[in-house]
Amino acid sequence: MMLMNEPLVLGIETSCDETGVGIVRGIDLLADSLATSVDLHARFGGFIPEIASRAHVEAMLPTLERALAEAKIKLSDLDAIAVTRQPGLVGALLVGVAAAEGLAAGLGIPLHHVDHLDSHIAVDVLENGLLTEPAVALLVSGGHTSLMFVEDITIGAEILGTSMDDAAGEAYDKIARLLGLPFPGGPHIDRLATEGNSEFVRFPRGLTAPHDLVEHRFDFSFSGLKTSVARWIETKEKEGIEISVPDVAASFQEAVVDVLTSKAIDACHERGVEVLLLGGGVAANSRLRALAQERAQAQGITLRVPPRKLCTDNGAMVAALGSLRMSAGRPATRQP
Ligand code: KG4
Ligand code: ZN
Repeated sequence: MMLMNEPLVLGIETSCDETGVGIVRGIDLLADSLATSVDLHARFGGFIPEIASRAHVEAMLPTLERALAEAKIKLSDLDAIAVTRQPGLVGALLVGVAAAEGLAAGLGIPLHHVDHLDSHIAVDVLENGLLTEPAVALLVSGGHTSLMFVEDITIGAEILGTSMDDAAGEAYDKIARLLGLPFPGGPHIDRLATEGNSEFVRFPRGLTAPHDLVEHRFDFSFSGLKTSVARWIETKEKEGIEISVPDVAASFQEAVVDVLTSKAIDACHERGVEVLLLGGGVAANSRLRALAQERAQAQGITLRVPPRKLCTDNGAMVAALGSLRMSAGRPATRQP
């Protein structure tokens, strides 16, 4: 088996609403080209799968061309292609997989089908160097909320827990909508919360009661929180009391990040791990980063957080995982 130290890998990501094409050499980022259909969904106040798939078809070739130009390479220079296989919307995934299969077959190079969540973890090497394993990763986005244990990312992470209902980002987006803020609401709540009092209302912390911890120690639930915020707003409106949006945003956000960080630290303890990694779009949240840092530091745990641009879905994360797999001698999922 051929081991490559610094393979030149192109990664394709289309699992949700971002068409991402990234290029890495070893663990150096050469290009990270992105097109997003988020504005098309914003008109409907939520995510529409068919719109995302069509947008991927249109964006794929221009995004690929921009990535090649940015990296200053030709397709024929590539050693391998990597593509997101799962999880995601099937119509959206298919566009990326078809493009990757075509490129790999046409160029006669190996193809690595990779897991989207593993890629969110692998991307950190592009900024912070090789991951110290074992580690725990907390991945929070509009589509997922997962606590993962990472022994060796080139063979895939183990899922310790996940959201039983809404993803963390989805909860942000739904509460933002209730508060009359635009989609996607996470960044707006983040910004408004800095002006609010996070102890204004104590909203419920899902799946943290002792009886919940027996079966759901590392799982999350945000639907009860969402209902609780909705009821609270409704009651105040009925009473004719004006709502302080920054205070509600800050109190809601505190309930989310409190649970996320306490379960992540608990997972580090349970697995005897000293490294915690954050990823996904919600990892851009300033309060989540601050509280995770505070709680990790207090426990002697090192926190690793990729830069904001690499936390959200992108092609570079897929290329990074493909490159790590090649360096570790993992076989391609499709040989030339
Ligand atoms: O990873 P991502 O770009 O796409 C997927 O969902 O896969 O994550 C998007 C989610 C949205 O729900 C958005 O509201 C949330 O991440 N988000 C944030 C922040 N920035 C993005 N949530 C809270 N605070 C932020 N600063
Ligand atoms: Zn994602």
